[in-house]
Amino acid sequence: MTRIPAVETKRLILRELSEDDFEDIYEFKLDQKVVEYLTWGPTNREQTLRSLRKQIAFQNEENRQIFVLAVVLKYTNKVIGNALLMIRDQDFKTVEIGYFINSNYWKQGYGIEIVNGLLYLGFNTMDIHRIYAVCDVENAGSVNLLSKIGFRQEGHFIKNLKVKGQWRDNYLFAMLKEEFKGL
Ligand SMILES: CC(C)(COP(=O)(O)OP(=O)(O)OC[C@H]1O[C@@H](n2cnc3c(N)ncnc32)[C@H](O)[C@@H]1OP(=O)(O)O)[C@@H](O)C(=O)NCCC(=O)NCCS
Repeated sequence: MTRIPAVETKRLILRELSEDDFEDIYEFKLDQKVVEYLTWGPTNREQTLRSLRKQIAFQNEENRQIFVLAVVLKYTNKVIGNALLMIRDQDFKTVEIGYFINSNYWKQGYGIEIVNGLLYLGFNTMDIHRIYAVCDVENAGSVNLLSKIGFRQEGHFIKNLKVKGQWRDNYLFAMLKEEFKGL
């Protein structure tokens, strides 16, 4: 699989990126609040454009492992976030997901729609067996979001990732195909 078909939730479309998405993406990638628990960022215009072009180039890779999608608000067409699917084990059909949203759109249920869209793409479109997410133990938004959707907390990694120069603890959350209730 190279390009992935778009998926629609109630208010959002998750679709492949294009270079026209740049300004909207730059708006949230330079926001300290958005990248607080992430290993990268904030990024300047040049870094954001370089990474966007790299992510678009993945779309044409033969054995594509990384799918970075634009999260588009249906009623305005604005790109309010990114949603990621990363194939971590092809033989055992395991995928890691990631997501981040423009902070002006937090706490309105969009996170839940995005993760459900990713689960649909992973389990239904790509026939994945296991989907997991790794998040900072203090990232209450992400911990609540994953718990609410029905992910199981399976691990607690001590000093697992370095974020803004500090070693951070992470939770591992996972869901199996047979546990997904559908969109
Ligand atoms: C994590 C993130 C995607 C959540 O998105 P969101 O759209 O605000 O989440 P939702 O509105 O769907 O909320 C899901 C649940 O989490 C709760 N929640 C969301 N943000 C929260 C916060 N900061 N603190 C506590 N709970 C929070 C919501 O209240 C909701 O639970 P409820 O329905 O019982 O009220 C968003 O905060 C974000 O983009 N953060 C920065 C990037 C990031 O950390 N990504 C995750 C990396 S693992």
